[in-house]
Amino acid sequence: MTFVKPLLDFIEKSPTAFHAVENICSELEASGRTRLTEGEKWALEPGRGYFVTRNMSSVIAFDIPEGEADSFRMIAAHSDSPTFKIKENAELSVRGKYTQLNVEKYGGMLFSPWFDRPLSVAGRVVVRTEKGVEARLINVDRDLLVIPNVAIHMNREINDGFKYNAQTDMMPLFGDDTAKDGFKKLIAETAGVPEEDLLGTDLFLYPRIKPAVIGNSGEYIMSPRLDDLECAWSGLRAFIDAEKPDRGINMLCVFDNEEVGSGTKQGADSTFLYDVMQRICISLGLDPEASYRAAASSFMLSADNAHAVHPNHPEKTDAENCVFMNEGIVIKFNANQRYTTDGVSAAFFHKLLKDADVPCQHFANRSDVAGGGTLGNISGSHVSINTLDIGLAQLAMHSVCETAGAKDVEYMVRGMAAFYASRVSIGRDGEFILG
Ligand code: CO
Repeated sequence: MTFVKPLLDFIEKSPTAFHAVENICSELEASGRTRLTEGEKWALEPGRGYFVTRNMSSVIAFDIPEGEADSFRMIAAHSDSPTFKIKENAELSVRGKYTQLNVEKYGGMLFSPWFDRPLSVAGRVVVRTEKGVEARLINVDRDLLVIPNVAIHMNREINDGFKYNAQTDMMPLFGDDTAKDGFKKLIAETAGVPEEDLLGTDLFLYPRIKPAVIGNSGEYIMSPRLDDLECAWSGLRAFIDAEKPDRGINMLCVFDNEEVGSGTKQGADSTFLYDVMQRICISLGLDPEASYRAAASSFMLSADNAHAVHPNHPEKTDAENCVFMNEGIVIKFNANQRYTTDGVSAAFFHKLLKDADVPCQHFANRSDVAGGGTLGNISGSHVSINTLDIGLAQLAMHSVCETAGAKDVEYMVRGMAAFYASRVSIGRDGEFILG
């Protein structure tokens, strides 16, 4: 369970995608990788590692092998989680007595768990500088807000089911009438700038819940944002620790905006990954023929959490293609290819995990349930390489606090490390050569 504490510490200090990416970058830097920017010329050297961010909320890290690069091995995960974004005109007054924050949904969350708990605000502010403008991360980092429930006495039927309205039911209480015009002041103070220098914001709510280890023998973990920071962190750990292959380029891609369809300049549906791969090939002097060959022998693990069988509602999952916490890496299948796994990629990964002695299990939705999408097939429309969808089993996905298996973190890190250390090349179509 050595990975549980560092994972939970990472999630706790990553209240937004911006913070998650900043924390990933700090670990990459501490491990000796060099930060690049998209605006500078890249001169990549064999045997060294690099990383580059876009929008401060997506990051791609890569290690250049000592030998001639002949393939890419990538792990993709996402940095964002469903939450509420604070609107530009941030305040609402109620009967002149209350000040609320005006928020809108980011992604598809369960509403009810957001009620009656301390919330805070974190994200990015953009401030005036002498040269122009500059973005900085902030975290108010104190118990600040609450979205109060309506008392049972005022809505006796609520336990028979209730349809929440995002505009009327979900506004957090920020303070009394003296809090009016106080939000911008608070944010400027937190950023350490005068109010007039605060020119832009991307601010989100987050729950003030401390991650916990629970269960009779400590077998479960509870935390906000396990989807998908659990996979992002496991990928980071594996990327940093993995044995480096002599010819393959290892990559870690953590994309923002998966929860809203990935269609942003920094999302999995952008050119970010393609651009980075192209620039690696150019910098290493690979001719177009060599870069096509490298792409053909490349592989991506698209890692995003999966639904464990629910203890109160086991009927919600397929009778056999269902997964449990602490039983290993989940390989996801979907006939309509919302998950990219196919027979060939599954066989390759099964063999890899078996050789590494890491357990795995298989997930497919009930045939009458659509299920959620993820990164793999979206990214695949820009960079069309062999891909497999994996994840870890968890409960209460997109709740304010989710539950997963304590043992699974290690399985994921070991499975991903085995993938990074593997040597894969494509033979004839439908054949992977390992080793
Ligand atoms: Co996810």
